[in-house]
Amino acid sequence: MNTRSLPQTEAAAAAELARLAALLQRHDRAYHEQDAPEVTDAEYDAIRAENNAIEAAFPSLIRPDSPSMRVGGAPAGGFAQLRHRMPMLSLDNAFDAEEFIEFAERAARFLGRKDVDFAMVAEPKIDGLSVSLTYHDGQLLHAATRGDGTTGEDVTANIRTVAGIPHMLTKPFPARIEVRGEVFIAKADFLTLNVAQEEAGQRPFANPRNAAAGSLRQLDFRITRSRPLRMFAYAMGEASAPVASTHWGYLGQLKAWKFSVNPLSTQLQGPAEADAFQERMGLERSGLGYDIDGVVYKIDDLGLQSRLGFVGRAPRWAIAWKFPAQQATTVLEDILIQVGRTGALTPVAVLTAVGVGGVLVTRATLHNEDEITRKDIRIGDTVVVQRAGDVIPQIVSVKVELRPDNARVFVPPERCPVCGSHAVRLPGEVVRRCTGGLICPAQTEERLIHLASRGAFDIEGLGEKTVRELVTDGLLKTLADIFRLPDKEMALAVREHWGPISARNLVHAIEQRRDIPFERFILGLGIRRIGEVNAKLLARHYTSFANWRSQMLAAVAIGSDARSDLGAILRIGPTIANELAEFFAEPRNVASMDALAAELRIADAVVDTAVNSALSGKTVVFTGSLETLARPEAKALAERLGAKVTDAVTRKTDLVVIGADPGSKARKAAELGIRVITEAEFRALAATSPA
Ligand code: IVH
Repeated sequence: MNTRSLPQTEAAAAAELARLAALLQRHDRAYHEQDAPEVTDAEYDAIRAENNAIEAAFPSLIRPDSPSMRVGGAPAGGFAQLRHRMPMLSLDNAFDAEEFIEFAERAARFLGRKDVDFAMVAEPKIDGLSVSLTYHDGQLLHAATRGDGTTGEDVTANIRTVAGIPHMLTKPFPARIEVRGEVFIAKADFLTLNVAQEEAGQRPFANPRNAAAGSLRQLDFRITRSRPLRMFAYAMGEASAPVASTHWGYLGQLKAWKFSVNPLSTQLQGPAEADAFQERMGLERSGLGYDIDGVVYKIDDLGLQSRLGFVGRAPRWAIAWKFPAQQATTVLEDILIQVGRTGALTPVAVLTAVGVGGVLVTRATLHNEDEITRKDIRIGDTVVVQRAGDVIPQIVSVKVELRPDNARVFVPPERCPVCGSHAVRLPGEVVRRCTGGLICPAQTEERLIHLASRGAFDIEGLGEKTVRELVTDGLLKTLADIFRLPDKEMALAVREHWGPISARNLVHAIEQRRDIPFERFILGLGIRRIGEVNAKLLARHYTSFANWRSQMLAAVAIGSDARSDLGAILRIGPTIANELAEFFAEPRNVASMDALAAELRIADAVVDTAVNSALSGKTVVFTGSLETLARPEAKALAERLGAKVTDAVTRKTDLVVIGADPGSKARKAAELGIRVITEAEFRALAATSPA
């Protein structure tokens, strides 16, 4: 451990942390920006380790400018580079049993032995991104992506937010060790993340691998922290002392240090057992919570590993046996057009049902018109479909030789298939859009769902299914209609499976949302790219609906003061400004918005005057079901008073507000000695705060 002793008091620790932060900043600059380090790597590491040790002992004192909280010496717009002490290499592939046997024979030949029945460890090969974690004196010092194998990006602050990675190793440990593993996102988390991306007006990720990479490589570690990343550890880089004599023993040590190690990892012997394991994994693959693209087999004995060494960029002692791609051949029967909430028209392939990797596929995404042209896909074609990243089926190629005479070329629609409005594709855009806005029933239906959803108005009992049914029955057409439902309580009560109580409950839930914070109102409109963050920015900037409305109408004119004002709001920028201008340029959108506003009481945004509130600067967690405040509203209220609202109770939490049935978070708060208050107490606190 560190030779310096830890400060004994908070004041001494705070002073020491301030000194170290300044010192490390100086060394970071000297190293990364001036290429003129003043200290050796080892001295630098020692200062950083000291900083981390104090932070571990006094977590409440971690400074925002602490080196553990940011990307060391990151040049503007990028990450700092970190050199791997031992290169991060890749693996050779095998695609069938024969190639696997050749791998075993090569290794046997190299070692001068006949027997190919090596003791091995098999590990599912996850498709994520590999990282290398450096521990010095048992403390996580830095983390780097693979990069080009020699130098990667410094993602230390981000890695600290990932599950399954200890910040401190328990004894015994070598003074210095690199642990390597794969960072990934589970399939279910990937789907949830993409819903959130779309709601926030961001582009969804193409597959879990991209989502994991995009989430880890964020310059702001708080974004990474909000993403459900995990890591399985599976390899060792440099170590100052041996940790085990077999790879299996090493995995056991990793588990003892509290790393997540894939529980499917198995010891086995030789090609015959590998073959059986490969087959088993192939069958279990689609049922796993994460994507795998094969199995990695490693010769278990570390002595043999070091004798075998590397050839080129890959070890002689390991091989990745890849699964064949999950593909199938079928017929493209038709191309449908799906209309999204923001009017994007997406071509969707209608396929003759076919099994692909254990899942029945009848639809595939065609992404956009250009993709159809590029791959020359025609209706009637026999096509090869593939489950990309095990999630969304896509069309890989066309079997042109099987093309029937009557195959039809796809013609992009000039009108929206749902409302008949013009469909236009603007220069520079890949997507064609329906211009019908809120008069397009397809868009309106999606917008109604969005408005009622948890993230926006949060109307209880008005979920996606109910909205669709009410639209079908003609009870909902426009956004404002939601707030006219209370006049139709009788009509609701006589619906199939409904009754007076469900009708009453829905009416009650709707009435509760007639008073709505301004930012929720903006968010509820479902304007493209206006998610929670941008809605908040707009509400704070324009403060009232009336003001925003008139400014947005003025901003429709390109070059107007209102437009430049809008574009200049921090983080809004020209693209989003255009999106808003487009929405307001369409009189039907404005009419629909006004009709909605007429049903509501929109509360002006309160601008950050909350510096002195009882909640300013505090980290607050809500748990359990609140009775008088909806979650989004409670969150907004706390934020308006200067608090930061988070989901998990940690040592950094200052206050936990509990509703009914609070559960584990309340217990955790009690364990950590964090102040817990009721909803009523929270309201009282908010009411007495000068915000
Ligand atoms: S060992 C020198 N083990 O596959 C050996 N790699 O194709 C280094 N991967 O870059 C890698 N699961 O990103 C190893 N259980 C596993 C793995 C694994 C996934 C990835 C890793 C590596 C790539 C090589």
